[in-house]
Amino acid sequence: MRLRDQVALVTGGAQGIGFAIAQTFGREGATVYIADVNEAVGLAAVETLRGAGTQAEFVPLNVALEADWERAVGHVVERSAKLDILVNNAGINVRKVIEDMSADELDRMYDVNVKGPFLGIKYTLPVMKQNGGGSIINMSSVCGLIGHMFTPEAYTTTKGAVALLTKTVAARYGKFNVRCNSINPSTADTPLVREMLKDPERMKERLGEVPLGRMASLQDIAEAALYLASPEGAFINGVALPVDGGVTAY
Ligand SMILES: NC(=O)c1ccc[n+]([C@@H]2O[C@H](COP(=O)([O-])OP(=O)(O)OC[C@H]3O[C@@H](n4cnc5c(N)ncnc54)[C@H](O)[C@@H]3O)[C@@H](O)[C@H]2O)c1
Repeated sequence: MRLRDQVALVTGGAQGIGFAIAQTFGREGATVYIADVNEAVGLAAVETLRGAGTQAEFVPLNVALEADWERAVGHVVERSAKLDILVNNAGINVRKVIEDMSADELDRMYDVNVKGPFLGIKYTLPVMKQNGGGSIINMSSVCGLIGHMFTPEAYTTTKGAVALLTKTVAARYGKFNVRCNSINPSTADTPLVREMLKDPERMKERLGEVPLGRMASLQDIAEAALYLASPEGAFINGVALPVDGGVTAY
């Protein structure tokens, strides 16, 4: 077990990529806190994790609210005395190009996708520093690395911000043995995306850009997160790791 005795908090862990990460961390022995705005789905996710033998708990959290972060991290420390792994995974995408996007929609995306990880890191760092280190994993996207032609500007700029937030934290806090890396996945095979890709044109677009010829699976992404969280990744710091079948290779 690669995460024995480790304590992890996964934002947006109720479903999708975050839940796959929570399951994978649990499989490897971690205690997992699922932090999400969706309490009903989050509680069901916790039940599934417990059914698989994982110590898990739901923490209500809106990543955009500072008071929520203070309370959520305080709760984890009270219960588990430490926090070794933070996964800033929660994210939203208002699928509108720049000409159609309202300023309010833009604010909402920045609140969740950028302010969320920023505040999460702010409240987690003191705990990790006191505990001798930790691993922070931020969910960016291939859209944080390239100007992705199928993705709206607002989303790409939030994910670009996450990639550089990651590197700055890595540079400043490495001396405290806190590592900070991002994962930059290409389109992942989720129910939401599957719905969008029922349109054969869009399916052709999306698969056409991937040298390996398929979408990312949730498990592809979860295993990358495990690597960054685990002792095997002990010298990996400040990396933007594409899990993209080669989308950003050309
Ligand atoms: N699905 C993809 O193709 C893909 C590709 C690259 C990157 N990503 C990124 O991966 C992350 C997860 O994506 P997903 O596809 O699993 O999404 P999803 O919509 O399936 O799940 C997102 C989760 O985040 C939660 N959430 C939303 N807003 C929140 C908030 N303010 N506070 C706390 N929790 C909140 C939701 O309740 C949900 O449980 C996102 O950051 C996304 O941008 C996704």
